[in-house]
Amino acid sequence: MTKEDVAKLRAEIENSLAHAKSIEDLNSIKVKYLGKKGFLTNILKSLKELPLEERRELGSLLNQIKDELEKALKVKEREILLAEEDGITDLDLSLPGREPELGALHPLTIVISEICSLFERLGFEIAEGPEVESDFYNFTALNIPEWHPARDMQATFYLENGALLRTHTSPIQVRTMLRKKPPLRIIAPGKVYRCDADVRHSPMFHQIEGLMVDEKVRFSDLKGILTYFAQNIFGEDTKIRFRPSYFPFTEPSVEMDISCVICKGEGCRVCSQTGWLEILGAGMVHPEVFRAVGYDPSRWQGFAFGLGVERIAMIKYGIDDIRLFFDNHLYFLSSFK
Ligand code: DAH
Repeated sequence: MTKEDVAKLRAEIENSLAHAKSIEDLNSIKVKYLGKKGFLTNILKSLKELPLEERRELGSLLNQIKDELEKALKVKEREILLAEEDGITDLDLSLPGREPELGALHPLTIVISEICSLFERLGFEIAEGPEVESDFYNFTALNIPEWHPARDMQATFYLENGALLRTHTSPIQVRTMLRKKPPLRIIAPGKVYRCDADVRHSPMFHQIEGLMVDEKVRFSDLKGILTYFAQNIFGEDTKIRFRPSYFPFTEPSVEMDISCVICKGEGCRVCSQTGWLEILGAGMVHPEVFRAVGYDPSRWQGFAFGLGVERIAMIKYGIDDIRLFFDNHLYFLSSFK
């Protein structure tokens, strides 16, 4: 047997391996070359008759072919078995794998969990409530009677049975206080609804409500906690200011601004040249609200606040259109990985 013969043999084996489609094909290749009376087995046996030099050279070449064939048969067998399992007929195990696409948390989920865990570290407990509310929890118990003009600012969607989609997370305050005795501290995230839609308003958006009730809760506690919150979320050098405001369920009421994260208070397009960005409403719980839930207003005091999650996320990430949060474009979402 010459070297050319060996090369031919190798090509012949490779060719039949490439055409093998079934386990039977593999078996017949095995028998043909490696079986007791197989081609390779026979030549290897017949090497004995050759002179030492030739025997060595041919022997090592043929043994190499034998090893390769044994390995190739195993690989091919696995391929065929796997392909049969999956019903695939042209499986190629040498192709690079497909990396699974990893998801990411939605930016609003990131902001909600960041804020909630911050308040949890301060001893606040997470609370929740239903998105479909009754008039009582959403308005009346919060000192917003039927004739109150504050209802106009929170036009919402009504169900035929008179229930409504909650316009804020404040009803969770009422639900919690009816269920628990003071003292208490809650932080309550959730979806809320209003008839509003433009680049800054979405008919569905998210709020986080905070409430602390105890015997000696002061306005300065509210200010201290909200300062800590703002500096944690927007950076140590963030300044805050309170402006007097009005909410039926708090007295006194304030709106809180933070120094503009873009211009640091200099005045720019984002803060409409004021240097400040409004981020939440807050105040001391109104005695009427305590009465509605059966707490004695001469004994208990509390503060409450409510913030818009989209607004915070827009400021934090520099997003100028609220609709981006709900369009579900992967290009936008994957930038939060
Ligand atoms: N519920 C108010 C709103 O949606 C926000 C708010 C203001 C909540 C003051 C509070 C608060 O708890 O004390 O506009």
